[in-house]
Amino acid sequence: MDKFVIQGGRPLSGTISVSGAKNATLALMPAAILAPGISFLRNTPALRDVTTMTSLLRTMGMGIDFRDNLLTLDSTVIDGYEAPYEHVKKMRASIYVLGPLIARYGRAKVSLPGGCAWGPRPVNLHIEGIRKLGAEIEMEGGYIIAKAGRLHGARIHFDVSSVGATGNVMMAASLAEGTTLIENAAMEPEITALAGFLIAMGARIDGVGTNRLEIQGADELHPADVITIPDRIEAGTFLIAGAITGGNVTLEHVVPEHLSAIIAKLEDAGCTIRSGAGSLSLTAPPAMRPVDVTAAIYPGFPTDMQAQWTSLMSIASGRAVVTDSIYFDRFKHVPELTRLGADIELKKNAAVIRGVRRLTGAKVMSTDLRASASLILAGLVASGTTEVLRVYHIDRGYEAIEKKLQSLGADIRREAGEEF
Ligand code: UD1
Repeated sequence: MDKFVIQGGRPLSGTISVSGAKNATLALMPAAILAPGISFLRNTPALRDVTTMTSLLRTMGMGIDFRDNLLTLDSTVIDGYEAPYEHVKKMRASIYVLGPLIARYGRAKVSLPGGCAWGPRPVNLHIEGIRKLGAEIEMEGGYIIAKAGRLHGARIHFDVSSVGATGNVMMAASLAEGTTLIENAAMEPEITALAGFLIAMGARIDGVGTNRLEIQGADELHPADVITIPDRIEAGTFLIAGAITGGNVTLEHVVPEHLSAIIAKLEDAGCTIRSGAGSLSLTAPPAMRPVDVTAAIYPGFPTDMQAQWTSLMSIASGRAVVTDSIYFDRFKHVPELTRLGADIELKKNAAVIRGVRRLTGAKVMSTDLRASASLILAGLVASGTTEVLRVYHIDRGYEAIEKKLQSLGADIRREAGEEF
């Protein structure tokens, strides 16, 4: 298993280009099941999760070609309707095949994902939503087994705003008979991107970008050609890389509005941010002010940036509280940051951080994607050598992260690591 070896203490400076959004891509790829023929997804990032989704869709018969960030998806013949445990356990987003398969073929068998590294992540809302559209769903042997004739429109009110459940129901409803109303729908940009793809395929969706989506189902959809939105979490992570190292970083190919909560918090912490058309520049202050954040649904501060913010606050000049209102247990990075000298106390779903003057390098263990990012960020400012082990987690969601960091002046290299 590879590891990153980082010599910390270099202020980052320069410009990088932000890649396409992982979480948009993972929704768009299965959406291609809905329309027989060849769809194109431009600006697709080369990530391990994209490879995992590719192998899952190939087992179903989809023809897939990926080169130079152009993904070609041929769903003329789909003859497999199952997402096996071996795939779903690697990547929960595999559940996105449920909606398209049941809508186009009236059958789907999808493994239940189970928990993830930091705690439980239920899929009850996906199931309830698809049931409301007329599917019969049973659980058997750890699998969701769904059957249906033509789905029909329904009114669905989600008790909790869920990105995945909104996406799954929106895809299924696009081929249902009649109108579907989703209330308390997720408003994340990745859901808006999925709606854009479905509309390009011929679906009619009103209320895009709001929490009330109205979908007029079509009898059939046609393939489409779209450009994936930039990854706001990758962008936010690189802004923090600039901030934590006391540097000066410019991002290109970014949608600044998608980062408004992150930008506001960075400004509160003393960073200067200039926003242009498709670009963002950050200049770090001499000392970072402590700023509390609460991770919440969009447009709130993203839970996927919570760990990185915790790293930044670990060198701030005072006390900050980072609360996660979406995933109460998402704090596996905290004991590892403590190994680097951070002073953090966990209280229920909050990390209470007392900023320290300096972090010092150590060996630390990645536990999940965003935790890995937070450890790399801490390693960039820690004195001496930090080794971040098990970086396969980071390859799930950051395209060539070490190359981008090197181009900003970071001393980071990938090495074959020890086995555990
Ligand atoms: C997506 C993102 C993930 C991000 C998360 C929250 C993808 C591939 N992943 O995950 O990176 O951290 O949004 O922004 O896009 N919930 C239920 N029942 C359900 C589904 C969700 O109770 O059936 C709850 C969850 O436990 C959580 C909340 O809803 O508390 C939001 O989760 P959700 O938006 O569904 O996250 P994902 O789509 O899995």
